[in-house]
Amino acid sequence: MTMDGIWTLCECGYDTERVISNGNTFLLGNGYLGCRGTLDEHTRAHMAAVNLAGVYDRCGSSWRETVNAPNPLFGCLDCSGVPLAAGDGSMSSHLHELDFRHGVSRRETVWKVRMNEKAPPVTVILSTERFVSMDDIHLLASRWTVTVDAACELTLRSGIDQEVYDCNGPHLTRFLRQMDEVPDIGPVETVRAWTGESGVEVAVSRFSSISDGAIHLSAGQSLEFVVFGSVYTSQDTPTAAQSCLETIAKACRDGYDTVYDSHYRCWEHLWEGSEVEIGGDLQAQKAINYSLYHLHCIAPRHGKGLSIAARGLSGQTYKGAVFWDTEIFMLPFFLHTEPSVARSFLEYRINGLPGALAKAAEYGFEGAFYAWESQEHGYEACSDYNVTDVFSGRPQRTYFRDKQIHISADVVYALWEYVEYTGDLSILREGGLEMILQCARFYYSYAYLNLRKNRIEFLDVIGPDEYHERVSNNAFTNRMVLHVFEVLRLAVSRLSSVSPKDKAFVESIVDGPALAAFETVAQWIYVPKPRPDGVVEQFDGYFKQEDCSLDDVRSRLLKPNEYWGGNNGVAAHTQVIKQADVIALQQLFADDYDVRTVKANWDYYEKRTEHGSSLSSCMYALTACRIGYLERAKHLFLSSALVDMVGGGKQFAGDIYIGGTHPASAGGAWMIAVLGFGGFRLERGLPVADGKLPQDWKYLRYRILVDGRRYMVTIRDSVSVIEPMDV
Ligand code: BGC
Repeated sequence: MTMDGIWTLCECGYDTERVISNGNTFLLGNGYLGCRGTLDEHTRAHMAAVNLAGVYDRCGSSWRETVNAPNPLFGCLDCSGVPLAAGDGSMSSHLHELDFRHGVSRRETVWKVRMNEKAPPVTVILSTERFVSMDDIHLLASRWTVTVDAACELTLRSGIDQEVYDCNGPHLTRFLRQMDEVPDIGPVETVRAWTGESGVEVAVSRFSSISDGAIHLSAGQSLEFVVFGSVYTSQDTPTAAQSCLETIAKACRDGYDTVYDSHYRCWEHLWEGSEVEIGGDLQAQKAINYSLYHLHCIAPRHGKGLSIAARGLSGQTYKGAVFWDTEIFMLPFFLHTEPSVARSFLEYRINGLPGALAKAAEYGFEGAFYAWESQEHGYEACSDYNVTDVFSGRPQRTYFRDKQIHISADVVYALWEYVEYTGDLSILREGGLEMILQCARFYYSYAYLNLRKNRIEFLDVIGPDEYHERVSNNAFTNRMVLHVFEVLRLAVSRLSSVSPKDKAFVESIVDGPALAAFETVAQWIYVPKPRPDGVVEQFDGYFKQEDCSLDDVRSRLLKPNEYWGGNNGVAAHTQVIKQADVIALQQLFADDYDVRTVKANWDYYEKRTEHGSSLSSCMYALTACRIGYLERAKHLFLSSALVDMVGGGKQFAGDIYIGGTHPASAGGAWMIAVLGFGGFRLERGLPVADGKLPQDWKYLRYRILVDGRRYMVTIRDSVSVIEPMDV
């Protein structure tokens, strides 16, 4: 992978080992679907996939996960019977490129094919370009150019590949293939299939301006053709197949160049509102561009109440489920640049309230306990056995589902961030207030009154650091819970004061005695205080765990993919933690902790943190900016922003594949740049910035939307300038 240009990724040569990670690195997406960054001739063996947002299925007793559609962009060539695929013996060069300013990928592969011993080889050059349209989310397009230097016969084999890659499939059961003759366009192939669990129809159509079969080319001749693909499901429309045909027909009428231009313009428009410029550091600049590319690729702009899965649209890892990643790590980017997308995340949770109520009831609690791994309608996809023990091959009991109770508070935290930033109280009327109330009820019923210590505690939980399961009084969790009660009080008073109608509405949702009871609980919630040296104990008894170094813990591993947490994990009984926990607390509640305290905690916890989740660096970097550790913040910024570019991040938890893109990390990179180095915040509704940059950043410039108005903020020589932009 070379660092050429701040908007392109380029891989020269073909490495079989990188095919799967390239599927993530070269990903194309438009919020509706993600097309893995594989090559035209790739199939399910290469994890080629068109991943559909929000369409789920369970096959047998396997994990429920998102569905992949049949791939309409499949195509391969042979030359006089010799197959042409990247990596084949006759290949002489290969280049794969992603223009991530415009979401277009290109490949150029050259083969030198020998027909017989005596004849000189024929050079075949295949160049293709593909994109999934940002303008029409149901459209995929690709353009092929084939050039030869001597007369030869090529054979093209292409079509909709219904051999779909699945982690826990097959999800599509019946396949119907049909050819329709579309007036003025010609034959269009369509594959219709249905998911096994709930019969969702997935329809895919494909048009090619050339037919399959033999193609005679003379020396120096080039052949060019285009392919359009379209995908709809019955979740979009009852006439999915017909809609595919209409999309294809329109694309054919408009022509490839027009379709390309519209897609290109959409991307330019997205950058106008979100671009972040970093002067003097090309690597950082490229990394932030690429991070924002991934966020744009998965932003669900096409409907209301949609959210983003932890691995975006890069595949079925983590069951295509939504985690706290969206609310805490991705939402801030959208909130500050495209608040309607942030609102959609919250609507998704509001719509998921019935699922959260059912989950709380399942465990004997009241109110709303949100899914740790949320699928459609808030369905909890997290299993009780989320990790496989690498020694026995047996599923290992994990407690993420039942004990990571901070999830409901994360959702409320995000909702309040949205309300504070946008001033949009309508979300409270449209289910938001009810959601806060139900989350408060959940914590009220979970709370433990410790009579001896005269305080309310939260026992038997898991904080962000998943390596320590079933702990009590996790500082992060307790503070987040307290926030839920605070938010309820604020939301009630804010909305009640708008109008008598709103006051009546509030009273219809929550009555005075209930509020008083919540107030009392809130007063008694125990939030661990810093000890004299300033360090906050992550949970009861954390300081009594073995205090050893990360290297010690690592050296105890018997197998590389061993799970560090759980009962017997190497980190479980030590002070080594997976990811930011106390530091996440001190970032989310920055006003509660002074700089000296944050510094003490940073110094204590950072060296004990594995950063085993890509969510970790961002919290450490943000707090590092606050306490003036700018160079360390920059280092952590790069870990966040580069994770998908270099194909990093953990690939396995136990024996379970967890690879894919890391959009929370991308969102984290934005937060570090803009909220950390860029020092952006609102004060009384007005934009304020007091940026501080690492040494080699000459300037930082970013765009921000406040109250419908766009601003450009520039930090240079320790001076921050905020200018309104013409939109
Ligand atoms: C992290 C969680 C995160 C999940 C999905 C896990 O490894 O520990 O905090 O929500 O991955 O990204």
